[in-house]
Formats: sequence, C-alpha cells, structure tokens
Amino acid sequence: MKIFIDTANIERIKEINDWGILDGVTTNPSLIAKEGKDLKTIVTEISQIVDGPISAEVMSMDAEGMVAEGLELAKIHPNINIKLPMCIESLKATKILSSKGIKVNVTLIFSAQQALLAAKAGAAFVSPFVGRLDDIGIDGTALLSEISTIFNNYGIQTEIIAASIRNPIHVSTAALAGCDIATIPYDVLKMMISHPKTTEGINKFIADYEKSKKN
Ligand code: G3P
Repeated sequence: MKIFIDTANIERIKEINDWGILDGVTTNPSLIAKEGKDLKTIVTEISQIVDGPISAEVMSMDAEGMVAEGLELAKIHPNINIKLPMCIESLKATKILSSKGIKVNVTLIFSAQQALLAAKAGAAFVSPFVGRLDDIGIDGTALLSEISTIFNNYGIQTEIIAASIRNPIHVSTAALAGCDIATIPYDVLKMMISHPKTTEGINKFIADYEKSKKN
C-alpha cells in the first residue's frame, strides 16, 4: 500500500519524505488555510520535494469552474491531481478532466455508491473518509472493504485512498481491506513508528553492549 501524507505543511512533508517512505501528498482547503500561503504556492513547493501524486482541491461548485481551476492547477506540475468534492457537478468535471489526461481524486466519499459513480466518471482516485464516519457512529473501515470488494469484482482501476485517518489501526485496516493508498496525518505517521517493546529492546541491547565493554 502506498503512503501519502495528509498535510500542506512543507516542513512536515520534508521531514517525512526524508524517511524514504513517502509516495505522495494530499491537501485540502482546511489544511491549506492553516499554512498562511495560497494553494498554488504550496503545491508548487510540494512538487519540488515529493516525486509522486499531489492532490490539490478546487473551490468552484460548478463543473465549468472546476474544470477551469483544475486545468490551471494541473499546469503547475505533471504530478498534480485535481481533488473534487463528490457531487453531480464534480462527476461531470471528472469526465472532462480525465478525458484530457488529468487525474482526478474525488473526495468526501462516504458510501460505496458514491465511489462507484466517481469511478464510472473516470476518477483516478476516490477518497473515502474513515474517521468522519467513525465520528458519527458508523464503522469507517467497513466502507473501505466494501469499495475494495466492488472495485475488485469489476476490475475497476480507480485507486482507493483511505482518508480521514485518525490512528495507526485505521492504516493497517486500510491495508487489510486492499486499499491502494492511505493518506496519513503527520502525527499518525509518527505513532506508527513506535512500539514499547522496540524501545525496550533497543535499551537492553545498548545496556548489554555497555556491560560487555567493561568485561
Ligand atoms: O484526507 C482527508 C482528510 O484531510 C480529512 O481528515 O481528520 O479532517 O476528517 P479529517
């Protein structure tokens, strides 16, 4: 499973990219708003750091505006994907942008039916939101399995990006469900590294080594 980072923070992207595990980046208007810079500046900077897909979300709510914004953003770098919120207008825009060879990530997916429609319209990616379903008492990871099964049943090539990831278990469950990608916040990536038994083991190796030097 590919790992994307879900942030627009350049320092954090650089830090995780240096780990050697990063396959791409997703942003959204809320993440961009936290950084105090405009979308184009941020995705340009990201494209100079990460060699992989970078999702940039449009703000228009009509197909014509989505396509116009998408075409502008796609000029920035070949790795830029256009993120569109799931709705009728975005299905139309997905069809147009994908026919021009521009990859679309349809976001705010909360049902398998929405994912199926986005895929039919030509989306390269769909982003089901796991955490926000959990927030309302619905098992978000079950949605990942449903979409994965449906796409496998029909050989649908659209990649599933498990999004709205809130903890490391969401990540392993996404992988078990066969998701192609998980887009993971910085803090969750950090949590994935640690295990108390690993820390304990390292400390014991160091202590034993230091003891052996004294013998
Ligand atoms: O990738 C989607 C993500 O940015 C939403 O996450 O935590 O705001 O639900 P969250």
